[in-house]
Amino acid sequence: MSRLCSRIIGTGSYLPEKRLPNQDLARMVETSDEWVYSRTGIRERRIAAEGEFTSDLAAAAGRNALQAAGIPAESLDLIIVATTTPDLIFPSTASIVQHKLGVSATRMPAFDVQAVCAGFLHALSVADQYIRAGTCWRILVIGAETTSRILDWSDRGTCILFGDGAGAVVLEAERGGERGILSTHLHADGSQMELLLTDGGISRGAPAGGGMGVIRMQGNEVFKQAVKAMESCVDETLLANNLAKEQIDWLVPHQANIRIIQSTAKRLGMPMERVAVTVDRHGNTSAASVPLALDEVVRAGQIHPGHRVLMVAFGGGFTWGSALVRW
Ligand code: UT7
Repeated sequence: MSRLCSRIIGTGSYLPEKRLPNQDLARMVETSDEWVYSRTGIRERRIAAEGEFTSDLAAAAGRNALQAAGIPAESLDLIIVATTTPDLIFPSTASIVQHKLGVSATRMPAFDVQAVCAGFLHALSVADQYIRAGTCWRILVIGAETTSRILDWSDRGTCILFGDGAGAVVLEAERGGERGILSTHLHADGSQMELLLTDGGISRGAPAGGGMGVIRMQGNEVFKQAVKAMESCVDETLLANNLAKEQIDWLVPHQANIRIIQSTAKRLGMPMERVAVTVDRHGNTSAASVPLALDEVVRAGQIHPGHRVLMVAFGGGFTWGSALVRW
């Protein structure tokens, strides 16, 4: 019998209503629209409302993806949520999302995956293994964040970068192996964790001064590592699939900084018209950034059957990875 492959049969996303433009940030910290835009490509980001949680964003994106796929939530075999900003310590955000999608199942597992900005690609890779193994037929994979809740709003090196949002895909098993996820590639290097982390947490406890911990980043160093890792991931994916760079039709990169995106595109010789860019309007939404960008280009009708779509991301950990999909 021919092998199983994971096809993306629907995408969806959700953004909170509130927009925070650079001009408003410039009233909170010493910065300017000009500085932020020229260094990062960001004009504005979205911020979740009070009482709006990661699971709300995730469920909304999930509903949109299910609608696009034309299937009910009850027909899923598994829900995976990638997030760095779960509603609670437990239960998992995925369990809460399952409930919010109106499924009262005992059969359908739901769990979270945490790999910060590369989280969605880790979740996608896990889901792909379940489908290839024949364990699951349909899986909802979501990346969702309320990153605004772990920011130090007095630190201009980080608070200008991040935003909230969610993106999702529905995977379905297909026999034949011609279309769907061709390969995924994941990496981690914990030795450099100090360059990008939160300064407090559950086991380590609160940072000096209280609170639950906020993002601390040596931006310049992270920038260099991100460029290097994303470029090497592109090379690795091409090599694993025996493809030349001209055979990639779309690049959907993590949206942290337009300059990082441009360097990854350059490595592929890819014109920016075939690169999904949302960083100007979303900022860095961590695990949500890749599925949000993917949903945007899919809904714009820019991805056609047969296209090869390369997703690549880098984040805290460090963690990084890629996924190549044949549409
Ligand atoms: O998603 C996970 C991965 N994260 C990333 O990929 C983020 C990667 N890093 C970056 O995107 C960039 O490093 C930043 C946008 C965070 C910073 O840009 P940079 O060009 O690397 O600036 P820098 O950190 O080298 O700082 C240059 C100067 C400093 O001033 P001095 O010391 O030269 O006087 C900073 O204090 O810019 C200053 N600066 C700012 N000025 C105005 C830092 N942040 C700001 C700001 N507004 N918001």
